[in-house]
Amino acid sequence: MTPEGSILSGEGLHKHYGRTPALDGADFSIHPGEVVAVLGPSGSGKSTLLHCLAGIVRPDSGSVRYDGRELTTLPDAERSALRRRDFGFVFQFGQLVPELTCLENVALPLRLNGAKRKAAEATAREWLARLEVDDVHGKRPGEISGGQGQRVAVARALAGHPRVLFADEPTGALDSLNGERVMTLLADAARDTHAAVVLVTHESRVAAYSDREVTVRDGRVKEPLAGL
Ligand SMILES: Nc1ncnc2c1ncn2[C@@H]1O[C@H](COP(=O)(O)OP(=O)(O)O)[C@@H](O)[C@H]1O
Ligand SMILES: [Mg+2]
Repeated sequence: MTPEGSILSGEGLHKHYGRTPALDGADFSIHPGEVVAVLGPSGSGKSTLLHCLAGIVRPDSGSVRYDGRELTTLPDAERSALRRRDFGFVFQFGQLVPELTCLENVALPLRLNGAKRKAAEATAREWLARLEVDDVHGKRPGEISGGQGQRVAVARALAGHPRVLFADEPTGALDSLNGERVMTLLADAARDTHAAVVLVTHESRVAAYSDREVTVRDGRVKEPLAGL
């Protein structure tokens, strides 16, 4: 069953690492274009939830539905193709490819999805400009600041127009000024492209950029009480 109108949902998700329960019956759903902040203390299961929803980690039990399809039973090759085509990712430390220039980093997912080099680089340029880092095209990730790196990572994640953007502590390594700028750019760009955003963070000020907040505790998701 999929909650009404959601593009992505998880139901009854359980995941153990050895004897550590990372998820213990977590439920989650998100609508197209919605920005949902996933809050909770360190170790509560936020990243595991994100990885299960994104089809990176297979839960021990429970269901993940994306756009009418069950992700948990989809063959690996189909899951990775779907991930590449429909999902975008931003992690705490950008995770750009160090050997490539920033322009090549943003163009890479477009190339992997079949775009020609010129077209991919033109799109990449637009996105770098939009994220206010048009001066880093020819530089490698090791030559730019952490804030610039996160902007490049956001550009890379959104350039392919993902339907769902997964962001795990995207500003966790930035000072507050840079963090706020990156969040503003990320949230605006996601809203313009109607991407749903699963925004994992332990910083409540980052959650201010969301439409809705949920909290993970001990591997379960708590919705705020209605009316509060
Ligand atoms: N790959 C892993 N191997 C072993 N334990 C893990 C792994 N990933 C997460 N855990 C454990 O699962 C629990 C939830 O972790 P995580 O989802 O990363 O929480 P959060 O993102 O909220 O900090 C923690 O106890 C963590 O140590
Ligand atoms: Mg985490």
